[in-house]
Amino acid sequence: MSSNQFGKVAVLFGGTSAERDVSLRSGQAVLDGLRRGGIDAHKFDPKQQPFAELAGFDRAFIVLHGRGGEDGSMQGALQQLQIPYTGSGVLACAMAMDKVRTKLLWAGMGLPTANFEVIDKHTFSQTDCAAIIARLGLPVMVKPANEGSSVGMAKATTDAELQQAIEAALQYDDSVLVEAWINGPEYTVAVIGDEVMPAIQMETDNDFYDYQAKYQSTETRYHCPCDLSADDEQALRRLAHRAFKSLGCQGWGRVDVMRDEAGQWQLLEVNTVPGMTETSLVPKAAKVAGYSFEQLVLTILAMAK
Ligand SMILES: Nc1ncnc2c1ncn2[C@@H]1O[C@H](COP(=O)(O)OP(=O)(O)O)[C@@H](O)[C@H]1O
Ligand SMILES: [Mg+2]
Repeated sequence: MSSNQFGKVAVLFGGTSAERDVSLRSGQAVLDGLRRGGIDAHKFDPKQQPFAELAGFDRAFIVLHGRGGEDGSMQGALQQLQIPYTGSGVLACAMAMDKVRTKLLWAGMGLPTANFEVIDKHTFSQTDCAAIIARLGLPVMVKPANEGSSVGMAKATTDAELQQAIEAALQYDDSVLVEAWINGPEYTVAVIGDEVMPAIQMETDNDFYDYQAKYQSTETRYHCPCDLSADDEQALRRLAHRAFKSLGCQGWGRVDVMRDEAGQWQLLEVNTVPGMTETSLVPKAAKVAGYSFEQLVLTILAMAK
């Protein structure tokens, strides 16, 4: 692969979402990796630079997490500028950003995902938390419909906590997801093109894999290869790939999955622009599959369209 065939490459990172800090770290790593790979790559922070300055770039590597970068809007804007970009297109990004619509689609296709209820900001005052608990049991997980990095999420173990958690999540989004709690191990599966990477198991002593466990803790354990049997690993990878494809995702991404007490996989979400620091999950799994960080970013860049 000749590195200058891609011309002048904009690496989009930073941005304005709640995940700006994570994006700044991911983006810098991608920028450095591309440069080491001989690419004429340049930082582009949509928070600090006018969008029109993107004209003149031949290709864009999107490393913006969350709203405004991972939700289809940037993808649509780049499409209008006729600049090929990495990863999934407008629809797949928008779908994956919206955890409620993602789960509705999976449920409709018969793909496994935990039971859930949706709370709307405008009708929240009439919401009957006891009825939700009667249907989903306790504990439950409360999440804003469109966020990432565990921002605005909380576990609720009582009616009062549920009420509180919903109010907190409504600060981030008009739509909030209440999900049945899954008691069991957690995995994530990276997809690069048509290749599905080995699953990573994440283990934390926190209640769940929250912001602290993701980005600050040195206690979080990552296992890759993990201890699944060959058959289970294959089943998990196949499910993750189906979940990825079902949303129309392409290029690259990462599917989060848990396994409940009955041994059943439960799909959580798809990340269309997952973390990309050198120690993030996608590079970790790719490394086990034989990709160096440079090879990984060059492979993702080459698939831009
Ligand atoms: N239903 C659930 N039961 C138990 N833990 C959950 C559930 N949903 C999410 N989690 C925990 O919360 C973390 C973040 O949830 P996820 O849906 O992946 O959102 P995010 O976009 O913030 O990563 C997961 O990695 C997992 O540890
Ligand atoms: Mg996640």
